[in-house]
Amino acid sequence: MYSTHPRQVIGDAQRAELLENGFLILPGFIPEEELAVLRVEQRQVVRPWSEIRHDPPADRSALVPYPYGNARMARPWLHPELLRLGRWFLKTEAVFAYVGCMIARYPGFMSGDQGHIDNGNNSLLPKPGAGREYGQIGFWIHLDEVTADQAPLRLVRTRDGNDFSKAVPLTCPPGTVCVFNNHTVHASTTFTGSEGQRFTWGFALGRADHPFEGFLSYTNLGLDPTFRAVVGMMTADERTLMRFPAPGHPYYTRETLEALEAQYPGWNARGEYTASDAHRDGARHQSLAATALAGV
Ligand SMILES: [Fe+2]
Repeated sequence: MYSTHPRQVIGDAQRAELLENGFLILPGFIPEEELAVLRVEQRQVVRPWSEIRHDPPADRSALVPYPYGNARMARPWLHPELLRLGRWFLKTEAVFAYVGCMIARYPGFMSGDQGHIDNGNNSLLPKPGAGREYGQIGFWIHLDEVTADQAPLRLVRTRDGNDFSKAVPLTCPPGTVCVFNNHTVHASTTFTGSEGQRFTWGFALGRADHPFEGFLSYTNLGLDPTFRAVVGMMTADERTLMRFPAPGHPYYTRETLEALEAQYPGWNARGEYTASDAHRDGARHQSLAATALAGV
């Protein structure tokens, strides 16, 4: 569904930067033409400050879990370059989506965060000394510019340990994607400005063979209207990222494919799935037809 513009290619230098620093900032990764559409839709999920300033949430913040009430907003992480980076980082082709949330920060948001990692909320295991594959790689998307007074996330380079005084503020141009894993030291910050908002939303990938990891589940969303629409739009390959069996799996029969079509409209619009009982029943029909013809 997504094409890769040459400037979106994530090369060896950026991979090295991700490993060295523990995070990678991709300024303007989302194309301008896509930004315009996504901005309008994002504002239907989380309200801009101009609309809520007279009745803001008490903590001047909002959090909307996946799938955000909007199918398009649930898809940008499927960009092939982000998937390629994630698979390389996790050292396997077999990865699952680990969905995240959309976050809004507004003027007045206060933070005393002095740096943390997202481990206790993302894994049953303590932070290991083992490889980077024992964690998820996350993609935080910013459609709008983030200025220093709009509560930018702060990230600490690996070499700086837990020294939060050296943290890098994620101030960025529109369309920026920040890549980091759940062991990267980071912190929220106070919104010191008096106008605007900072919207962020994220996704993560983890290894398919690591059931002990994850942040929010989506196996409870099978009847959620937005999730149904998102899955219906996906290719069979993309659906494997959401834990659906790949084409050719014995689960797929004429009956189950019919049920999937009803639950996720468009399920087999591309003809990617074949019913495992289609051939057998087809052969039986042929045999019956031959018998019937023989009796004529
Ligand atoms: Fe965090």
